[in-house]
Amino acid sequence: MAVPANKVLKYQLKNLEKLPVKIWTDSNNASVHVAQSIALAIRQKQQEGEQIVLGLATGSSPIRVYEELVRMHKKEGLSFSNVITFNLDEYYPMDPKAQQSYVRFMHEYLFDHVDILPENIHIPDGTISMDEVEAYCEAYEKEIDLAGGIDIQLLGIGRTGHIGFNEPGSWEDSKTRLVRLDGITRQDAIKDFIKAEAVPYRAITMGIASIMKARTVYLMVWGQHKAPILQKAIEGPVSSAIPSTFLQKHPNVKVVVDQAAAGELTRIKTPWLVGMCNWNDDLVSQAVIWLSQKVGKTILRLTDNDYNENNLSDLIIEYATSYDLNIKVHNQLQDSITGWPGGKPEVDDSRRPERASPAKKRVIIFSPHPDDDVISMGGTFLRLVEQGHEVHVAYQTSGNIAVHDHDALRFIEFMEEFGGALGLLNEAGAKLVKKAGKFIHNKKPTQMDSPEVRHIKGMVRRGEARAGARFCGLDDKHIHFLDMPFYETGSTRKNAIGKKDVQIIKDLVADIRPHQVYAAGDLADPHGTHRVCLNAIFEAFKQLKNEKWMEDCWLWLYRGAWHEWAVHEIEMAVPLSPMELYKKRKAIFMHQSQKDSPPFPGDDEREFWQRAEDRNKATAAAYRGLGLSEYEAMEAFRRWRF
Ligand code: F6R
Repeated sequence: MAVPANKVLKYQLKNLEKLPVKIWTDSNNASVHVAQSIALAIRQKQQEGEQIVLGLATGSSPIRVYEELVRMHKKEGLSFSNVITFNLDEYYPMDPKAQQSYVRFMHEYLFDHVDILPENIHIPDGTISMDEVEAYCEAYEKEIDLAGGIDIQLLGIGRTGHIGFNEPGSWEDSKTRLVRLDGITRQDAIKDFIKAEAVPYRAITMGIASIMKARTVYLMVWGQHKAPILQKAIEGPVSSAIPSTFLQKHPNVKVVVDQAAAGELTRIKTPWLVGMCNWNDDLVSQAVIWLSQKVGKTILRLTDNDYNENNLSDLIIEYATSYDLNIKVHNQLQDSITGWPGGKPEVDDSRRPERASPAKKRVIIFSPHPDDDVISMGGTFLRLVEQGHEVHVAYQTSGNIAVHDHDALRFIEFMEEFGGALGLLNEAGAKLVKKAGKFIHNKKPTQMDSPEVRHIKGMVRRGEARAGARFCGLDDKHIHFLDMPFYETGSTRKNAIGKKDVQIIKDLVADIRPHQVYAAGDLADPHGTHRVCLNAIFEAFKQLKNEKWMEDCWLWLYRGAWHEWAVHEIEMAVPLSPMELYKKRKAIFMHQSQKDSPPFPGDDEREFWQRAEDRNKATAAAYRGLGLSEYEAMEAFRRWRF
């Protein structure tokens, strides 16, 4: 569903947002909408007996669009026989058969499943020799022109603001050419190449001018990690420092975003700065917290003048004086703080985040990877157990791709020596271990792991997860490994969520009948695994919603390792003492394979325990700055209401 733009704002937005942006509730709906528009254009051209030229992108942004187009081909007879495609870019050098090649990507996600003619597919060739590249690029450009130019161009945006691989500094009249990749782009690509050294330094990309010639452009942007760059691309001045801003000069760009990516747009972050607002309780808290942070005063010290001078006079008109408003928001924040995440027994709970009864609750903590439980809510986990609740932890995926080869090898050698010396390994076991060791010794830099190695890497993480959960006070009966199948591809490209994934979650929830479920509500996870894990939980809840016991089941969302809830979004803040924070750190330390430098660090150099502590301390500091009690650290949750 598209999020309706406030009518009054719409007019004022024109000056601020220099590209038309449509915000969708989620990327799935938005992608289906884009796919439908493309399908409509393809069919129209078919009726006219003409061909259509599509400019295509790779990366995570267009995947759902391609999946939907494939579905329409299979189920609704959408033909691609009149479609000509030109892809934006390809790494250089790149073997088209390599796991990371854009040729392979396009075939896996689209071309192999539709009736496009092979001769109509064009993807820059990453095997061309250096002395032929220039002529090759010129020819690519000419081919686009010869095909009649691009009718519809799909784009994603990189964190550098690139479109295609036009990195900062790209000039406006640039054409298809060989380029150097920005350091941030290379960092983001590590997830596909496994090792930083394996990420190419160069790429062939269509230029800004080539993109600008397209008749219609769709720019798709999903996820909170893209929010800051989207804001610059939409509201910032045109500049080669952010190449996507050149799109502001294009007459027909449609920017399609999900709510998470829209988070930094002024109309979402501080709508009162754009124009009149439809005030509700959530927006009022957001504005008061923003004001307090902006003027550097606690909430209770804000004056009418502060409101009037910062575009918030509307609120004073509505509430007559800042006094009532300040108290209302201050108390609301105060009420979100609790040392009793499972509810405090036998007290008035009307202003508490959780119910007092039942005093002892059944709780499931879902952890997408085997360490998210302790990283994101280790302190709350410890408290729930200490306060006598029946706590279960469920590790949704094996997390096997995030184990270094050298760590797996240590375990393989241990098994070999231990089993071999004592004759404990049977023939099959000894064979498996040997095979896995041999594989690792001969493994090429970007090669996918064999099933045996994946299995061993999964075991490494299981052991660590068990140690972490035991440290938090659980026995083995309360530790569940779900190994959701969507994750088991051996690469960072995951399968779509399937029936089996949902069934596994459903079975566990139906078996335990929890009063509380904790899940990762992290939409900024660069690999998308958290997002899929959450969707599986949502789907399971939907399917179970008619069960009587579900009425008592509350879902609390924590954020993963990347971001935290904004203060106005927090509905339960669990304070941690210095000792509790230290204990949480120790629980995170149990995940030894993820220490120092896990294979997929994303864009943050800090270790997980450091990120977790910084984040929890920042939440406590934010509460303190707003005028609430001073705590060492805080874990934050938001309740999901269906
Ligand atoms: C891909 C491309 C890039 C990506 C951009 C966003 O062909 O040209 O510009 O669109 O890096 O990547 P994702 O979608 O993976 O976030």
